[in-house]
Amino acid sequence: MTRTARAFTNIALIKYWGKKNKQWKLPYTNSLSLTLDRFYTDTKLTIIDSDKDIVSLNHKILNDQENKRILNYLDTVRKLYSFEDHFQVDTVNHVPTSAGFASSASGFAALAGAINETKQLNLNRQELSILARNGSGSASRSIYGGFVEWIAGDSNETSFAKPIDETPKIDLVLLSVVINQQSKKISSTNGMENSVKTSPFYPNWVTLVASELQEIKQAIAKKDLQKIGEIAEHNAMSMHALTLSANPSFTYFAPETIRIIQIVKELRQKGIFAYATIDAGPNVKIICTKESLEKVQTYIEQQLSNVNTVIANIGSGIQYI
Ligand code: PMV
Repeated sequence: MTRTARAFTNIALIKYWGKKNKQWKLPYTNSLSLTLDRFYTDTKLTIIDSDKDIVSLNHKILNDQENKRILNYLDTVRKLYSFEDHFQVDTVNHVPTSAGFASSASGFAALAGAINETKQLNLNRQELSILARNGSGSASRSIYGGFVEWIAGDSNETSFAKPIDETPKIDLVLLSVVINQQSKKISSTNGMENSVKTSPFYPNWVTLVASELQEIKQAIAKKDLQKIGEIAEHNAMSMHALTLSANPSFTYFAPETIRIIQIVKELRQKGIFAYATIDAGPNVKIICTKESLEKVQTYIEQQLSNVNTVIANIGSGIQYI
């Protein structure tokens, strides 16, 4: 039995930052994202007659060290669904070279989908979101297209993503500005743990997310682009304030990250629609409209010579191919 699933990555407008339960990857807060069309993962799964899983990434077989996270995940799934089968997992990431996106969201969503199909588990999308979350928190949201909210919940069964609007008719485009493609020194898991344990502002973050979620959902319903941009940018900066206020402090920002944040503000002063959001790395994603996109891209390329930009539109949920 062989099946292939395709899942797209997503960008959080209200970030997930902090786990209240590590084993089940249960977050302290809900989060909200937009699925993107340019960056996706195809995962082909085959049941094999072996007591070991084989994993390849972009046509290269991974060694035991590189595999670890996927093998642990497959063990968890075998326990959860009480089966013994082992798999050959062939994963191809279609992330344009240097798009600056982490592939764990699309990767674990595609893997969860491929397991569901191959093992004929007949999971609905809520159950699939739970299965994906067990690989990577943000993967829970990549089961759906468009605007998606991940409900924090308080157990494995109650923590899953729900679609808000899978095909929004809204004029938003994302410009990813890539500064650095090296893998991050502080993983999101460690970054979250340090922030939760040592930032004096962490309790405020939990309160802030609750109010910004309400506001952004209203703005999405009203298609209030400016409000969506303002809330997303403020939420991202507040997340990064948790890293700077951790003890010892750390940051994912590079000097160019700060320069791009300044540029985004300069663009707004010129009346051009642009808002910044940043995940656990130095690259900046700029929320644009179709109208502002070209101006933003041109301005960035004029100001900074050593960056790449990649455009993404709104993407769809998981597919089987
Ligand atoms: O899913 P993880 O464990 O890679 O964490 C993702 C964390 C952020 O990208 C910074 C925020 C988010 O909600 O996607």
